[in-house]
Amino acid sequence: MSLEILDTPALVLDLDAMGRNIAKMAEFARKAGVALRPHAKTHKSPAVARRQIAAGAVGVCCQKVGEAEVMVEGGVADILVTNEIVGATKVARLAGLARLATIRTVVDHPDGLDALAAACVAAGVEIGVLVECDLGMGRCGIADPAAAVALAKRAIATKGVRFDGLQAYHGKIQHIAGWAQRRAGAEACNAKLAEFRAAFAAAGIATPIISGAGTGSYEFQTTAGYTEFQCGTYVFMDKQYRDVGDETGERYGRFEQALFVLATVMSIPSNDRIVLDCGYKTLSVDGGMPEAMDLPGWNFGFGGDEHGILRRADATARLPKIGEKLRIVPAHGDTTINLHDEYQVLSGGKPTMAWPVAARGKIR
Ligand SMILES: Cc1ncc(COP(=O)(O)O)c(C=O)c1O
Repeated sequence: MSLEILDTPALVLDLDAMGRNIAKMAEFARKAGVALRPHAKTHKSPAVARRQIAAGAVGVCCQKVGEAEVMVEGGVADILVTNEIVGATKVARLAGLARLATIRTVVDHPDGLDALAAACVAAGVEIGVLVECDLGMGRCGIADPAAAVALAKRAIATKGVRFDGLQAYHGKIQHIAGWAQRRAGAEACNAKLAEFRAAFAAAGIATPIISGAGTGSYEFQTTAGYTEFQCGTYVFMDKQYRDVGDETGERYGRFEQALFVLATVMSIPSNDRIVLDCGYKTLSVDGGMPEAMDLPGWNFGFGGDEHGILRRADATARLPKIGEKLRIVPAHGDTTINLHDEYQVLSGGKPTMAWPVAARGKIR
């Protein structure tokens, strides 16, 4: 196969499949009348972000200031940092970035808002802020609509920041297994968002931006008031998302698997055990076990930092050869990508060039 020339383990990106995923989500958002602001924490690559924007995305989301810096350097002009940015160094960096691009971020506390505003005033810039609402996720955000309105009022009255609306992302509903169950989760989230919207309407405060939703929930949130969707994983997919199912069955088939790890069979100690050259340092484990897409009937398990072990689950499953290269689907794409320096990019199914995972390790 044409992948033979790639040394392993390698993170491989199928550009054609990614392009179809980007086009499909862009088309969905366009038809729904909702802007798309894909989350760049998935791919950490300005090259991917530029393709999403070329297909119609209004900009990207980032989780960290360091990711945003890489995106701005890579030519992205409009960024929402979907995380509360706290600490003098970080807010100063974010304010500095606002000289180069349109920057927004989220707030959920007066102290965080005031510190951000002070940094913006010192830098001579204005940053748009979204008040983060907790719709039941239990991470950051304000759960009480009245308190969210109060923080918005403070933002409106504070120099250096501009109140732009709400962030309403609920991470816990994204991977609910079963389409109907996931829809019910998203509808509960939508109902909670409606309480926030009602409180803002009653206070006479406009919310021009309501940003949220992910790959698992976006299709159930088109009429909930969102003005932009933050979906990330759709661009590549991973095994975790594939397993959440859609209305046709147990596999989530909206998007294609565009990312995999290429690994080599380095040892076959017995007919029921195959050892691959990919361990914890190549594939993340937080999302469960990866899967060997070229070798059905074998279950993936880890054998250490640099070893992956396939164990036979089906007596009739094919036994590969030593040196054979196998495609492994990561369980969780985001955290697997962050383990790699570069993507080996396929076009027409053939290796072309390597792209850096430019925001790899940008955790500050
Ligand atoms: C705030 C925020 N928005 C959007 C996303 C994207 O979600 P997904 O990759 O599930 O599409 C995430 C993912 O964790 C997130 O934390």
